[in-house]
Amino acid sequence: MNRLKLILFVAGAVLVVSGCGAGSNTGSNNSTAGQAPKQLVNIPSKPASQIQLTDTSMPGYKLFQQTCASCHGPKGQGDYGPPIYAIGQYWNTQQLTAFVEQGRGGMPPRGGLTSDSQVQQVVVWLEKQGK
Ligand code: HEC
Repeated sequence: MNRLKLILFVAGAVLVVSGCGAGSNTGSNNSTAGQAPKQLVNIPSKPASQIQLTDTSMPGYKLFQQTCASCHGPKGQGDYGPPIYAIGQYWNTQQLTAFVEQGRGGMPPRGGLTSDSQVQQVVVWLEKQGK
């Protein structure tokens, strides 16, 4: 009987330990920007000539042309990267910031920009697109 108690005790301890291990495995990225969306939006593709970008006098637009357009196209119509010309309809500033900061798959962190403040400028512009 004592032996059985010992076995039960050991089994219980193992369960507790493995439970703790699973619980501590949350949120490896503690960025204040929030959580990047898990899924891509998949904006329908459209010919560049039919896309009307807005607020192209903003500094973020220039940064977009210099850095993001090589993969997403000059109108955000998509190329190597997916279409993003209407991303402001789907993602808010926090979601865009988190996504661009981290990058994903074939997209480098910060989308190739060199500073957080540049990311912020692009995001402020991008957030207006498609509205
Ligand atoms: C080297 C190519 C490359 C560059 C440069 C790049 N991207 Fe991307 N981007 C991608 C790829 C590839 C994806 C899709 C990632 C995936 O499949 O997980 C993506 C996805 C995205 C998405 C999500 C689109 C959706 O449908 O949900 C956004 C938003 C985005 N990029 C914005 C930017 C911005 C803003 C910049 C410039 C600061 C940028 N990207 C620069 C390649 C690039």
